[in-house]
Amino acid sequence: MKNQISSLQEYLKKYQESVDDPKKFWGEIADTFNWHKKWDDVVDWYFEGEDAPNVKWFLNAKLNITENIFERNLPLRKDQIAIIWEPNDPKNEVIKITYGELFEKVKQFANALKNIGVKKGDRVAIYLPMVLELPIAMLACARIGAIHSVVFAGFSANSLADRINDAKSNVVITADFANRGPKSLNLKSIVDEALQNCTSVKNTIVLKHNGEKINFESPRDIWWHDLIKNISSENIAEVMDSEDTLFILYTSGSTGKPKGVLHTTAGYMIYTEYTFKNVFQYHEGDIFWCTADIGWVTGHSYIVYGPLLSGATTVMFEGIPTYPDAGRFWEVVDKHKVTQFYTAPTAIRSLIAQGDEFVTKHKLDSLKILGTVGEPINEEAWRWYHNLVGKSRCPIVDTWWQTETGGILISPLAGITPTKPSFATLPLPGIQPVIVSPEGKILEGNSVQGNLCIKYPWPGMLRTTYGDHPRCYKTYFSTYKNLYMTGDGAKRDEEGYYRILGRVDDVINVSGHRIGTAEVEDAINQHKKVHESAVVGYPHEIKGQGIYAYVTCAKLSDAEKLTIEKEIRDTVGKIIGSFAKPDLIQLVNGLPKTRSGKIMRRILRKIGEGDATNLGDISTLLDPSVVEEIINGAKVEVKR
Ligand code: WTA
Repeated sequence: MKNQISSLQEYLKKYQESVDDPKKFWGEIADTFNWHKKWDDVVDWYFEGEDAPNVKWFLNAKLNITENIFERNLPLRKDQIAIIWEPNDPKNEVIKITYGELFEKVKQFANALKNIGVKKGDRVAIYLPMVLELPIAMLACARIGAIHSVVFAGFSANSLADRINDAKSNVVITADFANRGPKSLNLKSIVDEALQNCTSVKNTIVLKHNGEKINFESPRDIWWHDLIKNISSENIAEVMDSEDTLFILYTSGSTGKPKGVLHTTAGYMIYTEYTFKNVFQYHEGDIFWCTADIGWVTGHSYIVYGPLLSGATTVMFEGIPTYPDAGRFWEVVDKHKVTQFYTAPTAIRSLIAQGDEFVTKHKLDSLKILGTVGEPINEEAWRWYHNLVGKSRCPIVDTWWQTETGGILISPLAGITPTKPSFATLPLPGIQPVIVSPEGKILEGNSVQGNLCIKYPWPGMLRTTYGDHPRCYKTYFSTYKNLYMTGDGAKRDEEGYYRILGRVDDVINVSGHRIGTAEVEDAINQHKKVHESAVVGYPHEIKGQGIYAYVTCAKLSDAEKLTIEKEIRDTVGKIIGSFAKPDLIQLVNGLPKTRSGKIMRRILRKIGEGDATNLGDISTLLDPSVVEEIINGAKVEVKR
């Protein structure tokens, strides 16, 4: 395949070239795409100064990303399977859709969107389960130049409304129901609730997925199948500028509401294709399966855009790893002869807990490459994945990246870069990571540890946070001058390999879901009996991190004491989504605060980790007795 590295030597050479002359390096890769007009310059950027950050790739070039998925690939791949859709219930029918068929559906839906007035630059919120109509809707938006804002279908009505309002989306695309394992969820009712607080939305397009009865409000609500009735699939793609927005995807940070990470057209396109082909070493005839939900960035980049741009066959799974039993992943691998399998460490850990026999009864002989993403993978999980799933013959790629980075930044190239458990290993070509001390000094050489930053732009990086450019600078560029701050700590070992140590800010990573502790606190505080709360992450065997909430309440009756924890959890579920419910709730009389009133989270984090032997400097504490009380009542065992 074009632009694919095939040896360690070649990687080292390409890496050097990409640093020495980034314009030449990315320009040559970009040459293999279809353009209406080529660029005047490859990159123009500054991270400091007025209106910073300013990052532009492939300046003034014109293209459409869907022409690079379809028109560019069709001559070779019209009848090749683009997506294999595996249903939630294995008794239901698998759908295999070719590039030719997918193209027709995308163009038809693009025309249907235009018919209800959607035009270039409009924001379209997509709140769908893992059904084929989800990538069809995304690509239809891209075809006409509308900006998709996909919202994970596990978010609550409140979170959905926030995202619709922030982006001022005028259309929402949803389904009647979502199926997840044995349960089904009435998505439309969540949308109805959200829309009570959204004035920008003119229409809701509803996919009939389960067919059960739902509330339907004409003329606002339109059935998907009615919308495309008699609509032609003749469609000419909108010509877009390289830097026109492709999508917005909301993600959590350490403060404030989730922000809309904005990605643009050409850079994201080139970066996802390049990283997909190289990290996963995709070859003709391979079947790639990424188990993420398309509602998160991993699904955007490595179920939809990366694979489809590359002309790959990509698997999309509607269900969950434990339905009908904990062998489902492996059954699907055998059924579709999956060659590359990409999942999250939390999924691996939860399957380890279910017992090896769910794996060993499957052949898994099609597998060539295994990948992980979303959180650090512990050595035990790595070994189980390598030995039991990969039969010790499949290289594991531990891929480190973020919603903001658009694609993988640090990872082995499968079968090429020698791996080491729990190391994301080396940066991809074009990526210039640095490790920075808390004081802002770039630590040169090997065997160093600190904050992970990137010092040169790459095509797939975020351009701004939607509607609030200063916030983008403040969040990612203001910590250290001229550096993109990732928010992760990392170490570079004696060989120059990178190991990601986890977040250094108030973001926690629960089962691969990124959650801001402040968001959870805000939600908890909405319970009428709650005065104040402090949320920290704590080590959780399966989820990686769990959510530990310390809460002060108004006086509770005996009856209230019995129900308060459940009520707090339900409040969080309602405001954010079930995945953000605290695992541990400790009711306390007071939180450890400094004299100036700041909560000393450091102490709470330590207690959550079960270690009170060294709480650091506590001389600024207003009332040291609260710490003692918290340790005594801790929900985990605490060493003193
Ligand atoms: C964490 C997911 C260790 C990290 C693609 C990052 C990882 C955050 C890894 C981004 C990895 C992701 N090893 N940690 N291989 N991959 N992370 O935006 O803390 O949902 O900052 O993007 O996940 O999460 P996000």
